[in-house]
Amino acid sequence: MDTTNDTTLVIGATGNVGRHVVRTLAGRGHPVRALARDPERARASLPSSVDVVAGDLTRPETLTKALDGVGPVFLLWPFFSAEHAPAVATVLAARPRHVVYLSAANVRDDREPSVNGVWGEVEHALRTAGVGWTMLRAGGFATNTLEWADLAHTGVVRGPYGAAARSLVHERDLADVAVQALTDPAGHAGAAHVLTGPDSVTMAEQARLIGEAIGHPVRWVDQPVDEARDDLAARLGDRAFAENAIAYWATLAEHPEPVTDTVERLTGRPARSYRDWAVDHAADFLPAARVRRVADEYVTLMRAGRLDEVAALLAPNVVRVAPMETGGDPVERRGTAEIVENADRLLADIELHAVTVDGPFPADGRFAARFRFDQTHTPTGTRSSTTKLSLYTVADGLIVREEVFYYDAPQASTG
Ligand SMILES: NC(=O)c1ccc[n+]([C@@H]2O[C@H](COP(=O)([O-])OP(=O)(O)OC[C@H]3O[C@@H](n4cnc5c(N)ncnc54)[C@H](OP(=O)(O)O)[C@@H]3O)[C@@H](O)[C@H]2O)c1
Repeated sequence: MDTTNDTTLVIGATGNVGRHVVRTLAGRGHPVRALARDPERARASLPSSVDVVAGDLTRPETLTKALDGVGPVFLLWPFFSAEHAPAVATVLAARPRHVVYLSAANVRDDREPSVNGVWGEVEHALRTAGVGWTMLRAGGFATNTLEWADLAHTGVVRGPYGAAARSLVHERDLADVAVQALTDPAGHAGAAHVLTGPDSVTMAEQARLIGEAIGHPVRWVDQPVDEARDDLAARLGDRAFAENAIAYWATLAEHPEPVTDTVERLTGRPARSYRDWAVDHAADFLPAARVRRVADEYVTLMRAGRLDEVAALLAPNVVRVAPMETGGDPVERRGTAEIVENADRLLADIELHAVTVDGPFPADGRFAARFRFDQTHTPTGTRSSTTKLSLYTVADGLIVREEVFYYDAPQASTG
């Protein structure tokens, strides 16, 4: 199949791996299209030559337009269920094309697809839909350890099984192999590449290497397994997945994860080590990066109108100062309960049509964002817009203070 004149569609283009796939392809002059649920936001972080289009894997019909004129496709499956995979595979197979799927190393060909978890089911959907395929069966990503970013600056990382040794893979190695398969489909058709880092490194040693990269010591402290399981389940929102992961890590102290030479064999240079990864990501472990993460997540939720999820980013004793909501008195509200109650009061008589957000603008433990609410005051039927600027202070990965400045005072509401 000649795909040289085709655009490559990258699904997951804003993710750890996809962003490197996009940059590498675009850097080599290949036409690239990126799929994103929020194209405006994605455009801000992708090269300007990239065509960014809207689409959502949970709504397979949205892919049809995105696939217009597209040859190869980079696919990931960011869900714990393969529910929509057969429908997505059918849309992908509407014309002959090659799909490079970011699968997982625990998929085994001698087992039924359903025993191979969600990755096995997605692989099965692709094989049976009739597209050309390459499976990138990735071991654990080194980026998983970014979850320690909020702890590393304290000099201590807590987790279960510090002696568990993992062959974590650098996302740029995955992207490099993906680009090979996308640009040389014939050379990789029907291949399932098992991709790992170049060696197995214990979790305690990973923490030490982060310390080395950021220039101050980080040590590992073993966390009780039950507590770790609860933390992981809460973070992932999937208890069964968390239980499997913890049970698997328990085995790795005795039996380090296997290492493959696939990255080196395919790229002609050694796979990047965990030490390389820690150096590449040192900035992610520093306080400024933590503020940036909170700011990005907060603004993303606000932009998507997911106001009910915002409370999870607020510290329990958060303070909100918004004089113009109370007729000029500098009233402070304290704690998430009071703040949520105030938001409910302000929105009680309001129908929100759209929220436009500029920002975030981070600096020095704080960030600002500008919001414009297009809304109707339901008792009077008056449609208006309100603009506010908020300044947030972040500590320990949570918002501890919000100071609100309005251009126009918000429409008086009841109470
Ligand atoms: N972590 C591991 O150890 C590991 C190991 C083996 C395999 N994997 C596979 O690798 C995947 C993660 O790759 P990653 O780290 O590069 O991704 P990531 O950083 O977690 O980013 C997820 C990407 O998926 C996109 N996305 C989320 N929901 C979507 C939807 N409904 N429709 C379309 N796109 C959607 C997001 O795009 P927008 O938000 O811009 O729409 C984003 O680009 C996992 O899902 C897993 O299947 C992971």
